[in-house]
Amino acid sequence: MTGPTLGIIGGTGWLGGAIAKAVLAKALLPAGNLILSNRSGAHPLAQQGVCLVTDNQALVDRSDVIVIAVRPEQFANLTLDAMGKTVISLMAGITAQAIAAQTSASRVVRAMPNAAVEIGQSFTPWYCAGVAEPTTKSLVQRLFECVGTAAEVQQEDFIDYLCALSGTGPALPALLMTALANQAMAAGIPAEIAQLAAKNVVVDSSQLLANHDAQHMIDALVAYRGVTAAALQSMTQGHFEEQVGRALQAGAAVARKGLQG
Ligand SMILES: NC(=O)c1ccc[n+]([C@@H]2O[C@H](COP(=O)([O-])OP(=O)(O)OC[C@H]3O[C@@H](n4cnc5c(N)ncnc54)[C@H](OP(=O)(O)O)[C@@H]3O)[C@@H](O)[C@H]2O)c1
Repeated sequence: MTGPTLGIIGGTGWLGGAIAKAVLAKALLPAGNLILSNRSGAHPLAQQGVCLVTDNQALVDRSDVIVIAVRPEQFANLTLDAMGKTVISLMAGITAQAIAAQTSASRVVRAMPNAAVEIGQSFTPWYCAGVAEPTTKSLVQRLFECVGTAAEVQQEDFIDYLCALSGTGPALPALLMTALANQAMAAGIPAEIAQLAAKNVVVDSSQLLANHDAQHMIDALVAYRGVTAAALQSMTQGHFEEQVGRALQAGAAVARKGLQG
């Protein structure tokens, strides 16, 4: 077997399963180098040639790098000895220190993808506690590039903050889309039209931002001094940005407090 072996504990869950599928689809590793674990056994991913186990220590023993993709409250029940190995945690609200203490891992990386891993559109910031070989860091970066974009951050606290930002994935746009549709319906627009219009704004029209700077877009639209400018001005006067700041701080506070249960 050539190349590193990767084990994903919780490798059949939402995030773990999407990452496993992407690793195979992008040919980051051959199926024989991928080991997944869960408690319930059989899963369709096992038909793609990966090894599926229910014994997490067996996974650790066969893996050079281990991803922990269980829910934070499930972490307390994980008994692992990953001494000498790199552990990458996707868990929100569990510190690198707590992960190192419970797993004996020699290197801990905390990464925060989002639900868009399943469509290859996640942004995954990651933080490496302590020293890691450039080859290890390169593997972490390439692993998360299989499910979108990724970037290393230099402070662990940034992961807790970003957990409330990019970690929430579609949540904030979903809130905006629902508010737009509800308000349009309240103003008498038929439900089907209101929903089509709101979805277009949040999902389709916003694709323009992929190649345009957001602030330039706002400035250009405000310069028309028309309908869009009036709507944007009303949002600003309603302290939209401060509201966003409070929302992100509220989420980050939960991440910092810890979710281990
Ligand atoms: N979903 C998101 O948008 C998101 C965003 C950022 C970060 N995260 C983080 O990603 C992690 C996973 O979230 P998720 O939404 O993917 O959860 P999920 O779909 O519930 O997946 C958890 C997986 O872990 C397995 N599992 C639970 N206990 C286990 C154990 N002791 N040994 C082996 N496998 C075990 C479960 O399978 P069995 O039941 O068969 O054991 C399941 O496949 C969480 O820590 C979360 O904080 C999630």
